[in-house]
Amino acid sequence: MCGIVGYIGKRDVAPLLLEGLARLEYRGYDSAGIVVNSPKAGALKMVKAKGRVRDLEARVPKRFAGTTGIAHTRWATHGAPSDLNSHPHLDPENKVAVVHNGIVDNAAELRAKLEADGVVFASETDTEVITHLIARSQADSLEEKVREALKVIEGTYGIAVMHADFTDRIVVARNGSPVILGIGEKEMLVASDVAALIAHTRQVVTLNDGEMATLKADDFRTYTTSGTTTNATPETVEWEAASYDMGGHDTYMHKEISEQPDAVDRVLRGRIDDRFNTVHLGGLNLDPREARGIRRVKILGCGTSYHAGLIGAGLIEGMARIPADAEPASEFRYRNPVVDPDTLYIAVSQSGETYDVLAAVQELKRKGARVLGVVNVVGSAIAREADGGVYVHAGPEVCVVSTKCFTNTVVAFALLAVHLGRIRDLSVTDGKRIIEGLRKLPAQIQEILDGEEDIKKLAAEFAEAKSMMFIGRVRGYPVALEASLKLKEISYIHAEAYPASELKHGPLALIEPSLPTVAIVPDDDLLEKNRAALEEIKARSGRILAVAHREQEKADHTIVVPKNEDELDPILMGIPLQLLAYHTALAMGRDIDKPRNLAKSVTVE
Ligand code: M6R
Repeated sequence: MCGIVGYIGKRDVAPLLLEGLARLEYRGYDSAGIVVNSPKAGALKMVKAKGRVRDLEARVPKRFAGTTGIAHTRWATHGAPSDLNSHPHLDPENKVAVVHNGIVDNAAELRAKLEADGVVFASETDTEVITHLIARSQADSLEEKVREALKVIEGTYGIAVMHADFTDRIVVARNGSPVILGIGEKEMLVASDVAALIAHTRQVVTLNDGEMATLKADDFRTYTTSGTTTNATPETVEWEAASYDMGGHDTYMHKEISEQPDAVDRVLRGRIDDRFNTVHLGGLNLDPREARGIRRVKILGCGTSYHAGLIGAGLIEGMARIPADAEPASEFRYRNPVVDPDTLYIAVSQSGETYDVLAAVQELKRKGARVLGVVNVVGSAIAREADGGVYVHAGPEVCVVSTKCFTNTVVAFALLAVHLGRIRDLSVTDGKRIIEGLRKLPAQIQEILDGEEDIKKLAAEFAEAKSMMFIGRVRGYPVALEASLKLKEISYIHAEAYPASELKHGPLALIEPSLPTVAIVPDDDLLEKNRAALEEIKARSGRILAVAHREQEKADHTIVVPKNEDELDPILMGIPLQLLAYHTALAMGRDIDKPRNLAKSVTVE
């Protein structure tokens, strides 16, 4: 979704901001723009373009010097993608420039009032309302002008503002949309994502909702929207700038799939306690007595994170014997759920910024619930809102579709399940068995990745399908759901996932030779039941690709994966299906890292 980057210092700002925008491309966008101060005070210079950052770059004139600037990638909400609707938005006198992530809910009302006062709008966006409000403010300082504008704004925002009469500063503010300050040596940056900062500094300040900041070249100051100083101190980002590079792979998706052995090793590191055959999770903030008092677990997430949550619920229920389920956060928050004090709520999110998840967390917290976060991005909004949680340590995930974060999130849930289980009814022997299984995962994932060439050959066959079915039973069902989502996201092939047990109750009607089925067939207590489903499909001349622990006779092809403990098998069975989706989409010539219509972080409703 939308991205912000800004800079104030001594360097030539345009190339720096364009490079920052390129770092934000992975989030998804449809247009981009940049504004810089003119060395001759009194005016701002702006260029905007519908399309990609390279289209914007092509329009930036040679003489576009400046040492302060803000830039933006826009993902259209109010008004179609166009040059005019792109950000920044300037007032008619070219004095005030605003870039904005989020949505102004009362934009229509404010626009009508401003138009009645004679203001002429240049775009259809909600953001332009903010520009005019700031431009019309009679306050003496830029900070006060912005504060006055924000007083009448309802909705979410991360904004950066420049003013031609206050060229020594950029003023920024946050409410529901990330704003991160990058603290440099005699230069300051701001962005909506550390990806745009990390090449310049690893010292960052993440603003809280209701917080503002003034950035000057050699200084920054944070304060609330009501003016109280907050004195935020910088933290060091752990991720390396190199993690955002392609590292010799053709796509980020391929890089991230191949990083999974290391990523899983990282999520396990330092957390296993062999003495008690348990797991320590430093940030949970849940003592053993509280853990024993939990009566239910409810996991909330969206998309792939929801699927990881479904597997997590199974792991927690199975090992800790606490009733657990997962639900899309986007649905949960609109159905007025009963919030129970003995339920542990767990919010799952790679980005930690997904609006539907964040809103569910905020609603739960408002009602007094205990909420944990299972999150990848350290210091993100959901991580900060939660009472405690587990970081999944997958490293930055740039491809719009999630792979390594999914895997690491499921492993993080396995760790949590062992932790809760060993406080409750999981025996020492079972604790040890699962821990040994967890330790085998990185090597087993590598073994699956080493079979990529075979999966690639299968993908060539599937690239011809118009539609595909994915089935799995109990632990295998969320694997089927995630594999089907992955395929549709990047190949645009229609795919459905069903519990194998539900076949006879309807979807069997779809089976015919042109509809391939991918079946998850682990060697566990449900093996025979799963084989029966394969028989039913074969009897209707359906083509089958099985993901199993040994060759399946009824399947046309079997991808054999290494066996782990039954509970951990779903982690391994998902990996070849990431590669299948990848190579299918590649064979179809899709833009894998940036699938159409999708954004990496969905920070609006
Ligand atoms: O950052 P989050 O994990 O909260 O994102 C949730 C979903 O938007 C995300 O998983 C989405 O489904 C991805 N495109 C999956 O590949």
